[in-house]
Amino acid sequence: MKAPITVSVTGAAGQIGYALLTRIASGSMFGLDQPVNLRLIEIEPAMGALEGTVMELDDCAFPLLNEIVPTCDLNEGFRDSNWALLVGSVPRKAGMERNDLLGINGKIFTGQGQAIAANAASGVRTLVVGNPCNTNCLIAMNNAAGLPKDQFFAMTRLDENRAKSQLAAKAGVHSSDVTNLCIWGNHSATQYPDFTNTRIKGQVVTDVILDREWLEGEFISTVQQRGAAIIKARGASSAASAANGVVDTVRSLTTPTPEGDWTSVAVCSDGSYGIPEGLIASMPIRSDGKTWEVVQGVVLDEFSRAKVDASVAELASEREAVADLIPS
Ligand code: NAD
Ligand code: LMR
Repeated sequence: MKAPITVSVTGAAGQIGYALLTRIASGSMFGLDQPVNLRLIEIEPAMGALEGTVMELDDCAFPLLNEIVPTCDLNEGFRDSNWALLVGSVPRKAGMERNDLLGINGKIFTGQGQAIAANAASGVRTLVVGNPCNTNCLIAMNNAAGLPKDQFFAMTRLDENRAKSQLAAKAGVHSSDVTNLCIWGNHSATQYPDFTNTRIKGQVVTDVILDREWLEGEFISTVQQRGAAIIKARGASSAASAANGVVDTVRSLTTPTPEGDWTSVAVCSDGSYGIPEGLIASMPIRSDGKTWEVVQGVVLDEFSRAKVDASVAELASEREAVADLIPS
């Protein structure tokens, strides 16, 4: 049996936590031969609810679940962590944009970044889900002194999955037939789901879906607004699909990317594609299962370039808005 991986999850008593923890503990995230320790972090008022979640995890008797530590202490919660999944934060309500949450949620990520740096295992990887996730990730990364910046990620995989599902429905194919789909920029209403480089059964999308007006209009806005549409319909933000996005993101970073394909995750920009260094921006990524790289040479036509630039400009303005949370 392999040694257990330790996974810390913040906001463990919340809706995403509820959908995510069973996926981790059952082996969906790290494989059916990989035991896991769960360190479940909550704020004090939610510790009672977390106790209930822990009881349910116990009642699943998962063969791969080695240990559960519920805590509201960040040092204990991130101790020896190999993966820090930062979910805990307030979700938006109908009528809000995700970056309206910056003032409420941003400060959570200073202490968490510091606690990860002080307590986690070497090589810890951090995935931020709590919104606005790109800029919260920027805050955590810049407060995690000494940790490499290439081990911080923010989630745009849910957007990629949404975009694939929309294209597949339009083309009358299965979503698994859609490849090379990159979400560029921010997990926000400015994100750009790049259909121009996407393929369906190996063919460029624009040769399969001839309705360019739909691609440039309804397709993009449906993906950009999907989170809001779910909040309107459910009265609560996405949870099962968000948890699934977390599982997919971690799997994509811990297993080799299929030949010729790429995946979307927001990473610390190295200046590729003219995206200012240091911003946490979504771009096309390939992984060998251990390390990752930005796919170079993806052609951005004039339409795409303008969309990427608009989303990156929003990220730059979010960075300015949280300058006081980023140590110089
Ligand atoms: P929720 O309100 O159901 O749960 C959030 C949990 O976080 C609560 O249990 C709360 O007690 C806890 N929490 C709050 N502050 C905390 C802190 N400082 N430390 C630890 N825990 C804390 O919300 P949810 O539906 O689970 O959503 C969580 C976040 O994920 C929201 O910000 C939401 O907008 C975001 N989200 C992101 C994506 C994405 O694609 N990136 C998708 C869906 C949701
Ligand atoms: C989503 O995309 O579903 C989440 O970011 C929640 C939201 O506020 O839209």
